[in-house]
Amino acid sequence: MKVFNTVKDLQHHLGSIKASPKGFVPTMGALHKGHFSLIEKSLLECPLTTVSIFVNPTQFNDKNDLERYPRTPQKDLSLLSEILRTDDAVFIPPVEEVYPAGLKIENYDFGKLDKVMEGIYRPGHFNGVAQVVSRLFDIVKPDRAYFGQKDFQQLVIVRELVRKKGLPVKIIGCPIVREPDGLAMSSRNILLEPSLREKAGIIFKTLSDASEMLKDSDIPEIKEFVASTINSTPGFKLEYFEIVDENELQPVSRKNSMLEDKKYFGCIAVWAGKIRLIDNIEFRHPYSKKVH
Ligand code: PAJ
Repeated sequence: MKVFNTVKDLQHHLGSIKASPKGFVPTMGALHKGHFSLIEKSLLECPLTTVSIFVNPTQFNDKNDLERYPRTPQKDLSLLSEILRTDDAVFIPPVEEVYPAGLKIENYDFGKLDKVMEGIYRPGHFNGVAQVVSRLFDIVKPDRAYFGQKDFQQLVIVRELVRKKGLPVKIIGCPIVREPDGLAMSSRNILLEPSLREKAGIIFKTLSDASEMLKDSDIPEIKEFVASTINSTPGFKLEYFEIVDENELQPVSRKNSMLEDKKYFGCIAVWAGKIRLIDNIEFRHPYSKKVH
């Protein structure tokens, strides 16, 4: 693999190789198996893959969160060197390379999509994500880019960004990779206090039980169940739980407003001590006979 810190060197390398399609996996580092599932998919589908490692300051609405975000560049590079091929690239730039003085940075409004869930509790977050993703796409010029369904709202917003700007990149959504107890893998998991980490499987368990409840219960009752289960686990506090459709991300409040031809996801944000975790699973329409 080749490691680059500057836009110029990365672009010189990528420009020198005739390979198609070119794959791209943007990350903020502290790599885990969730990231590697995206990277492996890109390696399978693309003869040239770029992985970026950049903790993007513009998407952090909380300064403390940015400061304590885990950074493990040496370990990341060593893990990447085991799977990347000779010409695959790792882009690990300083902030000035991504946001040089004088660079025109757009502000984004995604309408309904960024006024719910993460958009409410992390103001400005998706504007920052859109800024960095569009800048990175501009630098790497990928044909295919890989994003995890773990950050479900981010995936929907990135698709919308690409549509809005008419970018020639295919966005590929990849399934959530979980720990054996069901906890969705996340760079933030290593920040969890051991006693909270031990209990954190409750988030996936609650989502799974809630999705089962859809057979016999309506949404207010399910929401009540999720809130009481999470909030009665010591150290855990629910921030939100919503069942939304996969295209518009609009919360549904009654089961009878769920449409058979749409997919729905139960999305949750939970505080485990001082660490904020998100997760989601599909909620199948209870009357649907279709096998998805
Ligand atoms: P980061 O949190 O590092 O995640 C990088 C990519 O890995 C994202 O597409 C995310 O959805 C995916 N991912 C994380 N955990 C996963 C899991 N358990 N299973 C499957 N995929 C997982 O998301 C970001 O960085 C940033 O917002 C970024 C897109 C890089 C822009 O700064």
